[in-house]
Amino acid sequence: MLEVDSLNQFYGGSHILRDVKMTVPDGKLTVLLGRNGVGKTTLLRCLMGVVPTKSGTISWRGAKISSMPTYKRVSSGLAYVPQGRDIFGRLTVEENLLVGAASRKAPSKVPDRIYELFPVLKEMKGRRGGDLSGGQQQQLAIGRALMSEPQLLILDEPTEGIQPSIIQDIGRTLRQLVDEMGMTVLLVEQYYDFARELADRYWVMSRGEIVAGGAGADMEAQGVRELIAV
Ligand SMILES: Nc1ncnc2c1ncn2[C@@H]1O[C@H](COP(=O)(O)OP(=O)(O)OP(=O)(O)O)[C@@H](O)[C@H]1O
Ligand SMILES: [Mg+2]
Repeated sequence: MLEVDSLNQFYGGSHILRDVKMTVPDGKLTVLLGRNGVGKTTLLRCLMGVVPTKSGTISWRGAKISSMPTYKRVSSGLAYVPQGRDIFGRLTVEENLLVGAASRKAPSKVPDRIYELFPVLKEMKGRRGGDLSGGQQQQLAIGRALMSEPQLLILDEPTEGIQPSIIQDIGRTLRQLVDEMGMTVLLVEQYYDFARELADRYWVMSRGEIVAGGAGADMEAQGVRELIAV
């Protein structure tokens, strides 16, 4: 389990995260919802150590990771698919995947299971990342994160700007990672229907605070759609 407690974060004088308290249980898919600009990405950046944590604690499987550098968090099992994907446009698909294995011992080959999860990446392994569609780039970004063999996969709005058929594929893949491979997923989303379909657990963030949370099956009854409607 990932546990966040009393987490505060500032950009200059603006208080962005306010006493965030959240848990992400093992072997489940947890969705974090919230409108634009409420602090979702900032929270994920704190989880990964991309920005330092001002106060509060982040624990992963009982160990405090809040002051660990990012590469140590990755080697302890966390992986991150950033908002906007950040793939390398001039590297091939295969090279992009191998970058994700940089910290592993034998990074010379992409394991079959990555190509089994995303057959399109196998078809396109020699193409440049920049030549892929938005949806294919998103699949590549997820494949790259999986190269470090994570136990907790963290994704920031993977459906943003992507065509519906690939959104469905991504949803199925995330469920497969959790249900068949025992992975834990933390998914940041604004696309309510996608989130509700996938969520085992959910949290809602508003203005830097967690304002609601519960079982995915109760999202509709608890009015989460209205909470995040713009
Ligand atoms: N590097 C930065 N410097 C200063 N302010 C920032 C920085 N990054 C984000 N912010 C501000 O912090 C707040 C939270 O931003 P954040 O990106 O975490 O929100 P978000 O919930 O991920 O939004 P979105 O749904 O649009 O991705 C916003 O008001 C944003 O303008
Ligand atoms: Mg964001």
